[in-house]
Amino acid sequence: MCGIVGYVGRRNAVPILVQALKDLEYRGYDSAGIAVLAPESNRLVIVKREGKIARLEAALAEAGIPDANLGIGHTRWATHGRPADHNAHPHTSCHGEVVVIHNGIVENYAELRAELVSRGHRFASETDTETVAHLMEEQLAEGHSLLDALRLVAGRLEGSQAIVAASPREPNALVAARVGNAGGIVIGFGEGESFLASDLPALLPHTRRVVFLEDGQFARVSADDVLVVGRDGARLEIPVHEVALDPSSALKGPYPHFMLKEMLEQPEAISDTIRSLVTFEPPTLHLDDVPISPERLRQVQRVVLIGMGTSLHAAMVGRQFVEQIARLPAEADNASEFRHREPVIDARTLVVSVTQSGETVDVLEAMAVAARAGALQITVCNTEGSQATRLADGTVYTRAGVERCVASTKCFTTALAALYGLALWLGHIRGVLDSGELQHHLSELMRVPDACARALELRPAAQRLAAELASTASMLYLGRGLAYPVAMEGALKMKEVSYIHAEGYAAGEMKHGPIALIEPSVPTVAVAPKHALRSKMAANVEQVRARGGRVIAVVTEGDEELIRLADAALPVPEVSRLAEPIVAVVPLQLLAYETAVARGCDVDQPRNLAKTVTVE
Ligand code: M6R
Repeated sequence: MCGIVGYVGRRNAVPILVQALKDLEYRGYDSAGIAVLAPESNRLVIVKREGKIARLEAALAEAGIPDANLGIGHTRWATHGRPADHNAHPHTSCHGEVVVIHNGIVENYAELRAELVSRGHRFASETDTETVAHLMEEQLAEGHSLLDALRLVAGRLEGSQAIVAASPREPNALVAARVGNAGGIVIGFGEGESFLASDLPALLPHTRRVVFLEDGQFARVSADDVLVVGRDGARLEIPVHEVALDPSSALKGPYPHFMLKEMLEQPEAISDTIRSLVTFEPPTLHLDDVPISPERLRQVQRVVLIGMGTSLHAAMVGRQFVEQIARLPAEADNASEFRHREPVIDARTLVVSVTQSGETVDVLEAMAVAARAGALQITVCNTEGSQATRLADGTVYTRAGVERCVASTKCFTTALAALYGLALWLGHIRGVLDSGELQHHLSELMRVPDACARALELRPAAQRLAAELASTASMLYLGRGLAYPVAMEGALKMKEVSYIHAEGYAAGEMKHGPIALIEPSVPTVAVAPKHALRSKMAANVEQVRARGGRVIAVVTEGDEELIRLADAALPVPEVSRLAEPIVAVVPLQLLAYETAVARGCDVDQPRNLAKTVTVE
């Protein structure tokens, strides 16, 4: 979850590192720090502060940090040790011989720390990371190179780690390690300079030529050279990728928040996603990044869709797409539950993972379980080159561009479009959907971007409702069928960004418990577009109103009956039944955003969260 950056070259590292940390601040933001190697003294200078990057910048200005050609930086999401200056990364060793930044958890750190203390090491923080610096210093003292020191120490660490380290002993290089799935390490190649980062957005302003380290790979990175070795120290030849992401898509521009910008980008992002899967005249599907033969696909007897958070909600919609379009038994599961449950899967199971980042550890571990069982795997992912895309047999890319707000919006709607396309493809290949039906679905899907653009016009209505909701303590979200996961997603968005307690339920469940919560101060959001069991939803609305509850209903434009029945309505344009969830979620995103703004919340970086969750 933490953000990692490194620079070695001919320019001053400090502004490059600070900007890269800002680009990665969505990964964690409870503290930040940088370390540079001062060229004249060949001494490590470390500045770190609890709080956001702005506090670090002020501290850097005050400290008068020297210009340097090599440095590392970190933005933290605390696991071991509360957010505090002394727990912020980078961490160094007793004699200042090594400086380390880290993402992941050293699961046996208590044992290692006790061992180091018994050998006379003194610790300056409560973090697990600091043990790495001390252990590496011991290896350097025994005469090992910096890269070997990291490799040998990594062999002693339990758990998954991404580590970057530097030392005055090797003033022209950084070293990096990736062990397990705690997070990525990307190396970027510039002209006479090299970069390291946990994610692409930090590198895109400088280069698109990158190498992704795999589990068990270690790198020594200097201005003009990169050496990658395996666990045994043997040199590896690693392919250089040319990434296509447009760095400007990650800038906030005139918008007050990334969340608003990203919601407004949805029509284009959905359109780009559909276009990347469809060729026109006549409309047909081509999933270029899924090199799986039709014969192999026809062996599939069951589909399991997995994800976490918003991506789990997308998987829940995807499950219904697969059942209803491809007529295959399908289920959706929380990846972290799935992986520990000894699920019954085999080579006839298709596991579809949904993940914006492609680096969520629960998803990657669940994918590893699926791989061991011999399941076929497709990932629906927004991040080229991410670990999920490398583990799966094929990828359906969402073309959302970089999503910076911690709360996911455009990656949800583009994932739904991609899952719709995937279900159509499966159905067509398996012969349950003829070309005419496929073309009909595709033309319905192509109407979605315009419908979303019109749904975004509900912003003023959401703003008015937000003024009332701002003082609410608790909310219910109800939906049925394809609108049930949408209700869950609406509730997640509301709690994430506005800190209002919100729960999403299948509306049929209401009478079995949640109805006890209904009272005038607990508003209910009923997601009731035309095709999602609308008349049963109308009955739910009546039941809530009969108990003094207030109802905000997401309805299809022209549904005057429901508009009259509810206290407030957010009418969305009519689309086909299967496309409805993509459009119906838009007013819920707007409602969460405007409520968070009305409450003065930190919309893009809500408390306690991180964009990419790389620890369990
Ligand atoms: O990168 P992923 O899609 O795998 O991330 C999964 C969740 O962590 C993510 O969707 C999270 O729930 C978002 N903050 C929701 O807005």
